[in-house]
Amino acid sequence: MENYNIVAKKVPTFYFIGVTTGKSSIMKVFPLWMKELGRPEIVIEGVDLKIHDEPEAYCAAVAQIKYDSLSLGALVTTHKIDLYEATRDLFDYFDPYAEITGELSSISKLDGRLEGHAKDPISAGLSMDHILGEDYFERTGGYVLCFGAGGSAVSTVLHLTNKVNKGDRPDKFTVVNRSQPRLDRMKAMVEYLNTDIEMVYICNQDPRRNNEIMAGLPEGSIVINATGMGKDIPGSPITDEGLFPLNGIAWEFNYRGELDFMHQALRQSESRKVFVEDGWVYFLHGWTQVIAQVLHIDIDDELFARLDEVAATTRK
Ligand SMILES: NC(=O)c1ccc[n+]([C@@H]2O[C@H](COP(=O)([O-])OP(=O)(O)OC[C@H]3O[C@@H](n4cnc5c(N)ncnc54)[C@H](OP(=O)(O)O)[C@@H]3O)[C@@H](O)[C@H]2O)c1
Repeated sequence: MENYNIVAKKVPTFYFIGVTTGKSSIMKVFPLWMKELGRPEIVIEGVDLKIHDEPEAYCAAVAQIKYDSLSLGALVTTHKIDLYEATRDLFDYFDPYAEITGELSSISKLDGRLEGHAKDPISAGLSMDHILGEDYFERTGGYVLCFGAGGSAVSTVLHLTNKVNKGDRPDKFTVVNRSQPRLDRMKAMVEYLNTDIEMVYICNQDPRRNNEIMAGLPEGSIVINATGMGKDIPGSPITDEGLFPLNGIAWEFNYRGELDFMHQALRQSESRKVFVEDGWVYFLHGWTQVIAQVLHIDIDDELFARLDEVAATTRK
């Protein structure tokens, strides 16, 4: 502890560990939510770290929470894998999802213990269930094509492989990533899970090839942009000529930025009958899951609907 520069907070503080935290909608939404939850004294503080930052930077952010009593916990974005790997020794507990996925998105405290949870499989899953409803794959025969094999893609795969009802699992899940390591990481996790979903791993970053892969999907398939392109980096994984599956779903994981992929899909919403979803519901589930964990409260459907309503007032 003596190596860390711990600040004794004067008010209960909830941290948001990310890259450009000030730009996130949560900065406006959080105070409104705390008011709604009857905890207006809790403030949010952004911690901006570089992508693949030094292990010491991750340790300092986690130590602040561990050793300061008014530092309640944090939501972690972008750094989920790096932070988990750098700070393992500071934690007293990891939930099974954090252990399986090798990342964490929630830091909280309970009875003096520092706990890490991976909430993404739950929040990605709740968002997907909201979009698809029950028996989607049995009803449509669609497959899933996911561009990007990072943390959110892994969470999506984990959610689908965990589905008990066969109609909620696609026959085939194709994942395309621009480099090989994340594909290998996902493959190792899926092999451990022993699923009946046929997994196809493709290393590619040529958007024209992605168009071809997308063209091979059956009707009703879901195409996900989990690359961060259109927000974190410019562009889209496909070109404007790429054809979305008829009666399919295009799901952009982000809700802010240029969102090129989402706009490409919107242009086909009538001609190809594509249903288009952005990352807003995912954002709501991601945050409410972590807030519930850090504050040790239950956010049921009724409360979630109220928080959704409050958050919607901040959207342009
Ligand atoms: N709405 C929400 O609340 C919410 C929740 C979760 C995530 N998201 C968003 O979803 C995006 C992904 O999140 P994440 O946590 O999964 O990020 P991540 O771990 O950084 O993963 C992104 C992956 O996309 C790959 N990629 C980048 N460009 C590509 C391309 N042209 N073709 C194929 N793959 C490409 C990267 O490849 P490399 O391995 O080569 O780097 C990386 O594996 C982020 O923009 C994030 O903000 C939103």
